[in-house]
Amino acid sequence: MKLLVIGNPIKHSKSPMIHNYWIKKYKIKGIYEKLKIEENNLWQVIDELKKGKLKGINVTLPYKEKIITFLDKLDSSAKVSQAVNTIFLDKNEKAVGANTDGVGFVSYLTKDLNVKLKDKNFYILGAGGSSLGIISELVKHGISSITIVNRTIKKAESLAKKFSSSGIPITVHDWKLLKPGKNIDVVVNTSSFGMKNTDVLSINSSKLKKETLILDIIYEPRETEFLKQLKKEKFKTHNGIGMLIRQAAESFNFWFNISLKKEDIENVRKIIENK
Ligand code: ATR
Repeated sequence: MKLLVIGNPIKHSKSPMIHNYWIKKYKIKGIYEKLKIEENNLWQVIDELKKGKLKGINVTLPYKEKIITFLDKLDSSAKVSQAVNTIFLDKNEKAVGANTDGVGFVSYLTKDLNVKLKDKNFYILGAGGSSLGIISELVKHGISSITIVNRTIKKAESLAKKFSSSGIPITVHDWKLLKPGKNIDVVVNTSSFGMKNTDVLSINSSKLKKETLILDIIYEPRETEFLKQLKKEKFKTHNGIGMLIRQAAESFNFWFNISLKKEDIENVRKIIENK
C-alpha cells in the first residue's frame, strides 16, 4: 500500500517522516513517499488513486488549489477554503479532497496546549489561505472574537465578510498598527512573513497580558524573529510544528480510520525536534 505527498519543491517535506512513523507503529503494510510533480501530471496521481494503486495523497505547494479540478468531491473544509491538502477514496470510489490545516490547528490548541476555546479572543496576522483555514474552524468553537490584521487590508476585509454569518465578531485592523489589545488571549502569525531570516515581524505587546499565547504557524526557521521577540518579552511562544503534526494526524485518520493518541503525537514531535 502506497501513499504520496506531491508538490514542487518537495525535498524538505516532513510528511514522509511523520506518516511512516505512524504506519510502522500501527503495523500497516505500506509506505509513504514524496513525489516532485509537474502540473500536467497531476491527473495521473488521481488516476492511480482511483485504480487502487495509491491509498492516499497529501498535496502541498503549489498545487493545493490546482488539484481540485481532478477530484470528484470536496468535503466542507476544502469547499470553504477552496484548497486541498488531503485526498482519499470514499466508499463509492470517488476521489475526495479535504483540508486538514484548520482542524489540525484547533486540535493542536485544544489537545496539546489545553486551550479552552470558548470565549477566547484571537488576533490573527495574515489573510491568506492558512488564515482562512484556521478561521473557518475557530468560528465553530464558541470563541469570543477575531481580529484580523493583514498587509493588504482588502484581503482581511473580504475574509471577515466571508465569515460574517458565523455569529462571531470579526474586525479588521491596520497592519501598520500591530498592537493587540488587552483582551487578546491568542496571537497567531499565519502570514508567510518570517520565513526568511531577514523578515522581522514586530508587534507592540505593551497591552497584552502575560498569559497571552503567541503562536507562529511557521516551523522553518524553528523560531521566527517574531517568536524570538515575544519570548524575550516573557510570553509563552509556540512554533508551527504542533500544527504540522496535528494536520498530519487528521489526514492519517481519513486514510486509516485511526485516531492517533497523544503519545503518537509526542513521539513524532521528538523525532522532528531532534533532527
Ligand atoms: P498561505 O496559504 O500560506 O496563507 P498566501 O495565501 O499566499 O499563503 O498568504 C500569504 C499571507 O502572508 C498573506 O496574508 C500576505 O499578506 P498580503 O495579503 O498583504 O499579501 C502575507 N505576507 C506575505 N509576505 C508578506 C510581507 N512581506 N509582509 C507582510 N505580509 C506578508
